[in-house]
Amino acid sequence: MKRRPNTILVIILNLNKIILVKKLIKITNKIESFKNRKICVSGDKSISIRFILLSSLSNGKCTAKGLLKSEDVLSAVKSIRKLGIKVKFIGDKCEVFGKGLFGYSIRKKLILNAGNSGTTARLLFGILANCSEEIKIIGDRSLSKRDMTRITIPLKKFGTKFGKNEKRLPISINGPRKLKAINYVENLGSAQCKSAIMLAALKADGRTKLRCKPSRNHTELMFKNVLKIPIKIKKNKKYDEIEITGNNEFDSFNYKIPGDISSASFFIALTLLSKNSSLTIKNININDSRIGIIKIFKIMGAKIKLINKKKYKGEKISDIFVQSHSNLKAINLDPKLNSSAIDEFLLIFLIASKSMGVSTFKNLSELNKKESKRLDWAFKILKMIGVKTKKLKNNGIKIWGEPNLKLKKKFIIKDYLKDHRIFMSATIAALTLGGNWKIHNPESFNTSFPTFLKILKDLGAKFQ
Ligand code: S3P
Repeated sequence: MKRRPNTILVIILNLNKIILVKKLIKITNKIESFKNRKICVSGDKSISIRFILLSSLSNGKCTAKGLLKSEDVLSAVKSIRKLGIKVKFIGDKCEVFGKGLFGYSIRKKLILNAGNSGTTARLLFGILANCSEEIKIIGDRSLSKRDMTRITIPLKKFGTKFGKNEKRLPISINGPRKLKAINYVENLGSAQCKSAIMLAALKADGRTKLRCKPSRNHTELMFKNVLKIPIKIKKNKKYDEIEITGNNEFDSFNYKIPGDISSASFFIALTLLSKNSSLTIKNININDSRIGIIKIFKIMGAKIKLINKKKYKGEKISDIFVQSHSNLKAINLDPKLNSSAIDEFLLIFLIASKSMGVSTFKNLSELNKKESKRLDWAFKILKMIGVKTKKLKNNGIKIWGEPNLKLKKKFIIKDYLKDHRIFMSATIAALTLGGNWKIHNPESFNTSFPTFLKILKDLGAKFQ
């Protein structure tokens, strides 16, 4: 049988441009030390998707600077275009021409493709909860495996109807034109679920009352500080209480999107694990509901400083300064921090593997509900690189750290449903632990962080 060369190029479409990407990347050298370097990462994905969807409901032209131009955000852009909303990209600016709360034009038999993006799919269901025609929402192989009942159950309470299947994509949605406000308790700590309900509440008659387990709060901050619609937010010990009065139109707005802490995290981990290195990551969103990774690494002994702090439309922003650290210590993580680091656990496990002592993490069932089963993958990858782990009850993991962990063998990462965070975390492991790595589907980083490999190359990383 003829073997395909592993440097074969595949063609993918991104931002309507044709880009050539290798089928896999090979990493055989650790990154050399880098000192006092400054980088910028891409715009925040959660805020970018919310900007696109909320601006489509505003009255007039909204402008964003620094919008993340990744596949997940483009799935949101393509979807609102299909709903009759004009979107223009001019250099670094994105303009969306909103038509008001009830302004979408919905063609018959409309299909919207959320691609790989759980946030786009789930928030779209929220803004379409009152759609006057049936719309089918579809997604890629990974997204079609993910649970949608977490949003179809609350949305049905507003009066929204779904086709026969309401568990996994493809799902058809058909709203009554008029939604009625609901009371709901959100127990998963899912920002996507909370936001889908909040978006439906925008269009419902009356006052929607929510009690939600804490999760990232960009939607609340945008409702309050950007859309300026009537919303009450109260933080209790266990739940956040949110009340929204529906049917309030809002004006167009502008937004400068800060860098994404989830993207910055790869470079925080890279610096911590590299020798004699230091890095400043500029202009990052440091919303309290997102900085679990910084708190966790600091507990483990990392030297990380937040500098040039400022506030913008309710969000906190700063530069992040990080230095290498050769003797980090293990952590017994309080699960209260889980939700604020939910997308960063692969990196946290990597750092735990190089730390002194045994780390434990609990209550991580949500990790197996992401773009791939990330907790299962963590066990697989850690075992592969020789790190001792143990499964704990209630979706926990125990990791025996080895500060002298140095790899020499060959490692292959593939068939991971193109989960962008697996690709990028494996790349950081390869660049800091050594060994001979082949990591398949490098195009997956376009989901959330199109400049990932370029920034690594600028810092001195070598790929074949
Ligand atoms: C997101 C919320 C999180 C996160 C995802 C983005 C959002 O998911 O994992 O990457 O933008 O609301 P859950 O809300 O399902 O925890």
